[in-house]
Amino acid sequence: MNSPASMGSHPRHLLDFQDWTPERLTAILDNADTMLQVLDRPVKKVPALQGLTVCNAFFENSTRTRTSFELAARRMSADVLTFAAGASSVSKGESLRDTMEVLTSYKVDAYIVRHHAAGAAHLVARYSGKPVINAGDGRRAHPTQALLDAYTIRQEYGSLEGKTVAIIGDIRHSRVARSNAELLPKLGAKVVLCGPAPLLPAGLGALPGVTLTTDPREAVRGAHAVMALRLQRERMSGGFLGSLQEYADTYQVNETLMQEAESGAVVLHPGPMNRDLEISGDTADGPRSRILKQVENGQAIRMSVLYHLLVGRN
Ligand code: CP
Repeated sequence: MNSPASMGSHPRHLLDFQDWTPERLTAILDNADTMLQVLDRPVKKVPALQGLTVCNAFFENSTRTRTSFELAARRMSADVLTFAAGASSVSKGESLRDTMEVLTSYKVDAYIVRHHAAGAAHLVARYSGKPVINAGDGRRAHPTQALLDAYTIRQEYGSLEGKTVAIIGDIRHSRVARSNAELLPKLGAKVVLCGPAPLLPAGLGALPGVTLTTDPREAVRGAHAVMALRLQRERMSGGFLGSLQEYADTYQVNETLMQEAESGAVVLHPGPMNRDLEISGDTADGPRSRILKQVENGQAIRMSVLYHLLVGRN
């Protein structure tokens, strides 16, 4: 991957999209096309990261992000050190910094960090001296999820330019909503964020290309892609909602709601899903659903990001 001057300076980390130009983000999506071709071969391996060690440091649970990063690194021949906080000395009170210093002693070349605290990946970036990829920090950002979402929509339409993406649900607690609200307008799409007022922070409406509504019908009208978000019951304290049934009755992404969207509009969900709460089971499994396509694309996007940060800067 070459880096012409028009792409802007090459960010060292992927923590959020602040320092990333549209050209550079597009290059990551373009390169994922090549990675998907690698994943279609009988031998799904290239030597791009041979000799390098990637540390998967997960201080919060994950299925998709952890497994896809692990596979992505292995597909490119890196050694992978997987660290899961639940089975570590974190449970004995060891701090993030001390834990990361132990991992740094193994001469790791890049860190993938998931943590329940916003800003944790930034902290690791400051003292690790190596590229850091944010795999989700609290409610703040989940950039590789947004990239795979953008890639999945681009696969449908060829481009994000002029497309509308409705994101419906628990916006307040969602790092996925924040990262998509930051990324998609950079790539030419409009974003409509929708949820009950207590779960819809007004400040997000100030982002360029982003509008807010509490009305799900208004949100999906004219949308090319509709993303349902998980209702994050574990992050709720303080009565944001009346009842789950009331929430589902109004905000569930289902076939009735999708009647209002563009014909051919696709349905996304970052997972994990609460079936028949924020999304109906038949919509999740139906012909509009691209949920498993998102998972498949996640591996290619993460290969592309690793390549971009570890090899593409040379
Ligand atoms: N979408 C997502 O981040 O899923 P996991 O928590 O399973 O990684």
